Amino acid sequence: MNQDYIVPNAWSIIEEGFNPSTLTASESIFSIGNGAMGQRANFEEKYSGNTFQGSYIAGIYYPDKTRVGWWKNGYPEYFAKVLNAPNWIGINIKINGEELDLNNCKVSEFKRELNMKEGWLQRTFIAELKNGVEVKVNSLRFLSLRFNEIGAVKYRITPLNAGAEIEFSPYIDAGIKNEDANYDELFWKILETVAEDNQAFIVSKTLKTEFQVATGMRISFEKNQQEILLPYIKKIEAKKITFTYQSSVQQNEEITICKLGSYVQSMNHEIKELVNHNISLFKVINSIGFQQLLEFQKEDWTKIWKTSDIVIEGDLKAQQAIRFNIFQLNQTYSGEDTRLNIGPKGFTGEKYGGSTYWDTEAYCIPFFMSTKDKSVARNLLKYRFNHLEKAIENAEKLGFKNGAALYPMVTMNGEECHNEWEITFEEIHRNGAIIYAIYNYLNYTNDLEYVAEYGLEVMIGVARFWHQRANFSVEKNKYVILGVTGPNEYENNVNNNFYTNYLAQWCIEYAVKNLKKVKKKFPEDYKRIIDKTNLEETEVSAWLQVAELMYFPYSQKHNVYLQQGGFLDKDIIPVDQLPKEERPINQKWSWDRILRSCYIKQADVLQGIYFFENKFSTDEIIRHFDFYEPITVHESSLSPCVHAILAAKINKMDKAYEMYLRTARLDLDDYNNEVHEGLHITSMAGTWLSIVQGFGGMRTFKKKLTFNPQIPKEWKSYSFKINYNGIVLKIYKNQDITSFFNETGTPVTIEVYGKSYELVNELTL
Ligand code: BGC
Repeated sequence: MNQDYIVPNAWSIIEEGFNPSTLTASESIFSIGNGAMGQRANFEEKYSGNTFQGSYIAGIYYPDKTRVGWWKNGYPEYFAKVLNAPNWIGINIKINGEELDLNNCKVSEFKRELNMKEGWLQRTFIAELKNGVEVKVNSLRFLSLRFNEIGAVKYRITPLNAGAEIEFSPYIDAGIKNEDANYDELFWKILETVAEDNQAFIVSKTLKTEFQVATGMRISFEKNQQEILLPYIKKIEAKKITFTYQSSVQQNEEITICKLGSYVQSMNHEIKELVNHNISLFKVINSIGFQQLLEFQKEDWTKIWKTSDIVIEGDLKAQQAIRFNIFQLNQTYSGEDTRLNIGPKGFTGEKYGGSTYWDTEAYCIPFFMSTKDKSVARNLLKYRFNHLEKAIENAEKLGFKNGAALYPMVTMNGEECHNEWEITFEEIHRNGAIIYAIYNYLNYTNDLEYVAEYGLEVMIGVARFWHQRANFSVEKNKYVILGVTGPNEYENNVNNNFYTNYLAQWCIEYAVKNLKKVKKKFPEDYKRIIDKTNLEETEVSAWLQVAELMYFPYSQKHNVYLQQGGFLDKDIIPVDQLPKEERPINQKWSWDRILRSCYIKQADVLQGIYFFENKFSTDEIIRHFDFYEPITVHESSLSPCVHAILAAKINKMDKAYEMYLRTARLDLDDYNNEVHEGLHITSMAGTWLSIVQGFGGMRTFKKKLTFNPQIPKEWKSYSFKINYNGIVLKIYKNQDITSFFNETGTPVTIEVYGKSYELVNELTL
């Protein structure tokens, strides 16, 4: 743990006291978002200290020219980055002519609160300026879920020790740079500035991708809860519009500036309509009013929590953490738009470019599938279907043919963006996760129509890839897959990574199974797909040949599958024998030392066992867990959750709890000393999985919903909710009993501790 300043609270993230050294960490932690946009928790007023300003718009990216030391054929030309967007939150304040800047005055009673129940961010403090004036400030900000192009700020100031002349300079600033720009270039071009009637808009265009965004602000004032009109001076610069207002404010009198901010963008509107739409939107919001908009926000978050809340009794920090994870996931992705996805850092930072990784399929889909309407998971699957052509092109670039599809490791629009050969070309297991997600979705929803309409084509492309990527080894008399990187990125260019080979085999078999199902149940779709893909029976037999003869490295001595061929040549020394000062090894060791070592970054063989748990006996799971976990350093945020789930499965509750703690408060307590760069959004889904699949033992397999709830000894009780195809269930467990509540009333069959029950209202065991 690197930090411990977040005040424990069940529904809020709270920081008390002003600490410039954790400011950028707090900017990440207190981030707000509504699926369509998001912002780091930067101050509205000027801050001259160290800060990382960040506002992001979902789907708006820039293809930043690739920067690598040694170019390899097949590298993508660019890395798509979610762009740091024009800033509309800014309000500079002067009090009796002196700038309000928390870096330059005495700050007391500083408090921030991110209210997760209702979806708003509040900051209060008292500042004593150099000129002797003391002011109290309260700023409340949220990004509306209901009107997702709009955000609102209410910023209140009260002079405490004397009346003061207060100057407000709200602005929109489009002169923004990405911190992670490869060549320090600007990514936005300004097209138009409009300023009238207390409103301003800057229309800007992303270079190359040519997205257009109208960023807007609308200003109003209140004194004593009454709207007041103040004259203002406009300043229109090339990339910035500032309005300046002045008001004399009495001692202990409060003045409030209300600022609406907006992004209206060309993915959703015609370019020529951007400003007009923005103006009419402000009109609508103005008639609704700040207070009512906030009420809508509360209602909309109540709806989200109704099907997703997890309650933990007896451990306030664990309670706060799980809600934080659920809250941030919902702030990042709202599920209606098939063009959007979930970046590993969401809207909270720039690392990973905000692009899509296998994290979505392996971790996030189960969360959204169980807490939202099934259309949300379906949309995430469709995102990949829509990228199938690009995945086929991507495979062609690498020499594959005949419709073989290789999905990218990192993408924004379906094209590969990653450019380290050992990952771009070798971390091909991602292709399997995309099929696994369809399987997972089908097990949960039984929506075979999805497969007929979209999924089967993806399965064919991926099966073709695995068939071509494997080669026959005469020496082994088996098919092998050479030169890969498994999920454990601390090994590169290995042969026969168990996880990759297993997924390849499974993807082929699963594609063939679904070909048969679709042929029988959706003959027209079947014909359409066969015609489109030119799939012939001989080809399918060739795939199956590869699957049947797939090679898996195995150790007779340890009775476990080996992570890759030759793994046992390594010095196998458990992690607990590594000196503390050498951890994390990715910061302390040279890369070659890491590669030669036995240490595993994140679940690899165990990721496979987690995915296909029902193909392994409990004894096998225990053997593999006992072999691999002690040499795993969990230096990816995606690692502890998989181990927590497996540990719970094999009754190692202490281990499961230890792993749970590592995933749940990873960002709040900044375990990896990097939270200032942004939050680990995708691993937050893993935290949810640790409770629901780990402690709750929930599985959906072959149309059966099963539970096996256990509880860590440290907790009094916990409960979670799931939306099972429209039926909302609450599962409660304490140290003595296990209860199930059917909140919808439609009967559902569940299996608990191996016995089947029909759940209509309540069941207590
Ligand atoms: C992990 C990958 C993951 C990526 C983005 C890396 O550190 O090793 O598995 O996809 O982060 O979260």
